Amino acid sequence: MNPKMHGIDAQPGDLAQLVGLSHKNFILTLIPGAEFQTHRGVLKHDDLIGKPWGSQVFSHMGSPFFLMQPSLAELLRGIRRNTQILYPKDIGFILVMLSIGPGQHILEAGTGSGALTTALAYAVGAEGQVTSYEIRPDMQRLAEKNLQRVGLAERVRLKLGDIAAGFEETGVDALFLDVINPYDFVSQVRKALKPGGFFGSILPTTNQVTRLLGALRQQHFAFIDVCEIMLRYYKPEPDHLRPTDRMVAHTGYLVFARPVLVAEDKRGEELEELFVETGLGPL
Ligand SMILES: C[S@@+](CC[C@H](N)C(=O)[O-])C[C@H]1O[C@@H](n2cnc3c(N)ncnc32)[C@H](O)[C@@H]1O
Repeated sequence: MNPKMHGIDAQPGDLAQLVGLSHKNFILTLIPGAEFQTHRGVLKHDDLIGKPWGSQVFSHMGSPFFLMQPSLAELLRGIRRNTQILYPKDIGFILVMLSIGPGQHILEAGTGSGALTTALAYAVGAEGQVTSYEIRPDMQRLAEKNLQRVGLAERVRLKLGDIAAGFEETGVDALFLDVINPYDFVSQVRKALKPGGFFGSILPTTNQVTRLLGALRQQHFAFIDVCEIMLRYYKPEPDHLRPTDRMVAHTGYLVFARPVLVAEDKRGEELEELFVETGLGPL
């Protein structure tokens, strides 16, 4: 079932979030006649259906919960993980830089726990398609469960295999690699991605970035950007507004690039060199 993410009241088939005391929260799909058990009591779905989002609701033991529509950030937070997953701060920028939108076909590897897969599936909408490659069957099973839990599995084709053998797809709109050695797969990427499409990757060290940049240049990728995202939260206290005590200092370096078609014409060389060297610059 594809989740609905609009409307003022909770409706059958909607993905809902119950947020209780101590921020304990649960994500569920609303099904007429069903019941949801928590350690603080039972809530009947029929008592939730029809309530405006943001309402307070109570379990049979009287415990209060807020009935919310889960944000994409909340869906990502709830992902069960066996691998390092991509953080929402990186995912947000990836979606913008790869220009992910409704109806597109997006390719990624590796699937891992499926955090990026979830965000991509959310962004391509019911008409779009995400194809995700993973080498480890256990990881693929975990990602599938995570996607089913949030109702996005129908938009995703999970494929088991080593991307060294290449992708079966061609002409995809965008492709993201979150594997340890993306620089080894740039020719496979080039074959799968449509000319002028969007490529991105995340790497934990600058040494790996250097290797990827070399491979991208060799394969005629241009508009190359390298960046990292730093996000600092603040304590939302009007009279004592200050940063929270901890922050995530480093997740990875993001690299973006686009494959261009090089003309067999000397007049084009200068243009290609310019954009390979400089990218398009900061947003
Ligand atoms: C860091 S995890 C990806 C996490 C994922 N982006 C997420 O947000 O949950 C990297 C995954 O890539 C897979 N992988 C590594 N090399 C691969 C290859 N050559 N082909 C397919 N999958 C690969 C690993 O098994 C691992 O599950």
